[in-house]
Formats: sequence, C-alpha cells, structure tokens
Amino acid sequence: MELFDTSKSILQEIKLDPVFGNVHLLVKRDDLIHPEVSGNKWRKLKYNIDLVLFQKKDGILTFGGAYSNHLLATAAACKLAGLKSIGIVRGEELNADINENLKHCAELGMDLKFVSREAYDSRNEKSAQETWKEEYPFYLLVPEGGANYYGIVGCQEILKELPANIDHLFVAQGTTTTSCGLLVGIEENTQLHVVPVLKGFDAKAEMKKQLFPFLIDEETIVEHLNKVEVHPDAHFGGYGKWNTELTDFISKCEEKYKLPLDKIYTGKAFYALMDWLKAQKFETPQTIVFLHTGGLQNG
Ligand SMILES: Cc1ncc(COP(=O)(O)O)c(C=O)c1O
Repeated sequence: MELFDTSKSILQEIKLDPVFGNVHLLVKRDDLIHPEVSGNKWRKLKYNIDLVLFQKKDGILTFGGAYSNHLLATAAACKLAGLKSIGIVRGEELNADINENLKHCAELGMDLKFVSREAYDSRNEKSAQETWKEEYPFYLLVPEGGANYYGIVGCQEILKELPANIDHLFVAQGTTTTSCGLLVGIEENTQLHVVPVLKGFDAKAEMKKQLFPFLIDEETIVEHLNKVEVHPDAHFGGYGKWNTELTDFISKCEEKYKLPLDKIYTGKAFYALMDWLKAQKFETPQTIVFLHTGGLQNG
C-alpha cells in the first residue's frame, strides 16, 4: 500500500427514517484508510512524516497515554515510511506489556520510554522541549495527538475528498486539530459542528489558539469561528467515559446502518448529530457529512 493513500476512505450513504427530516447524510469513512493509521491520524501524520523525510531525520518522537491511538498510528506510519519512532508514555510504572496498544507499538518498532506524570505533564514547556531535542537531535518532536501545524494542514486535505455544497459537517473533537483543519478550508455556506469529548472543554477558545498560524488576525479567526457550532453535552461524563445509552446506540448504528463507531470519539459525535437532527426536523433538503475519524483499534 502506498504511503498516504486515502482511496479506501469512501463516502457511505446513510438511509435515515423520516423522523430525521429531509436529510442526505453521508459518512466520510476515514476509519477505512488503514487498519492502524486510521482516520485523522493518517491525515495528521502525513506532513510530519514528509518533513522528517525532507530534513533527513531518523524519525518521530511523540507523546501519549497507554491507550493512545496516536502512539500506535505513529509507530505504524513510521514503520511504513522506513523511519524510527520514539513514544514517550505517561506513567513511569508502566511497561510495554501493560496492554495490547503498547505491545503493538513495540512490535512495530517504537522505542517506548515511560516517564512520570509530572515529567509528562510538563512536556510542552520550553525547557522540557529543549531537553528532548538535545537528547534526540535526529527526531522530529510531534505533540500528543499530532496537534501541530502540519497536522492541521493534513486534516484540511479531507475537504478535497468531500462533495461540494455541504450544509453541515460534523466531527468529534479532542485537541481540535482536525476541526481546525476543516475550518480553514471549509466553503462559505457550510456550518462546522464540533463535538468535544472532554467535559467542560472551551472548544472555540482552544480552536482559536491553533488557528493563529493560519488566519493571522483575531478578526479573521472570529469570522471563521462564527461558522462553528459546538455540541458541548455529548461527552457522556468526559474523556474515556460512557454508559449503556451510548453503547446501545453504537450497537444500533452498527446493526442498522452498518456503521462501526467507537466509544471515545465517533460514537459520541454521531450521537450528537442524530440528537440534533431530531430536533431540527428539516423540511428543506440538507446535505450533511459526518467525518469518521477512526478510533476503532481501541474499541
Ligand atoms: C478517533 C479520533 N477521533 C477524533 C479525535 C479528535 O481529533 P482532534 O484531536 O484532532 O480534535 C481523535 C483524537 O485525536 C481520535 O483519536
């Protein structure tokens, strides 16, 4: 498989019951891109890997928790690109055998380094970054979740594979990298719906920080953010939390629409979409796209 081939990411049409209104719903199945470098991970890593190859570095050093999809995706993508990878993992008491995710990272050649929670939590501070760079000068440092400039540029490319004239585009939100990528390239009349999976997350404030390198001035950023609707109440208790209402919903979607969703991100975002649709009762036809950002590797 060619590196960064996204041809497996189809647009799946979902046939909805009339109760959901006059809606043409499509799911952009980025989860199908690759079994390990799935969904937005592929998009976020593309230009980071490009940069490593261009700068002739050895590989990528990145950060994550024990269940991080991003660590696994980085390990797999680096292996595919013939690069090395280092994963800095939160929790000095852990080891590579603690779960399947880390085991798999190690099998893919990722060099796992376990650090204390304090060291991990200060990873983005300037002095910590300098230390990592000094210790691993031939590695590109990529933040947790692939949340950097190159990640946003890669996510923007999703738009090239979407149909024109979308009325509403839905996406799950963690670091905001994916949603910012979509927002910088979105059409004038498309509304971007973001579904944070963290409780009490200030979605627009977080997006604003990431948008500065792209949109430069405050006014342009605010203009863009006016196209964003935040759905703040679909977190089901917060990151990594869920209940039977969510797991039943996910099972029904799989059965009824042949749409697999995960409990951490896409299940919550699709739930928010369906809930919102029921309340809208659209009479004029609407084209709605749900971006499936992957996450199925860890359930
Ligand atoms: C499956 C999945 N969907 C959505 C997201 C959220 O994307 P972002 O962090 O770019 O907001 C993540 C986290 O990276 C994820 O793993």
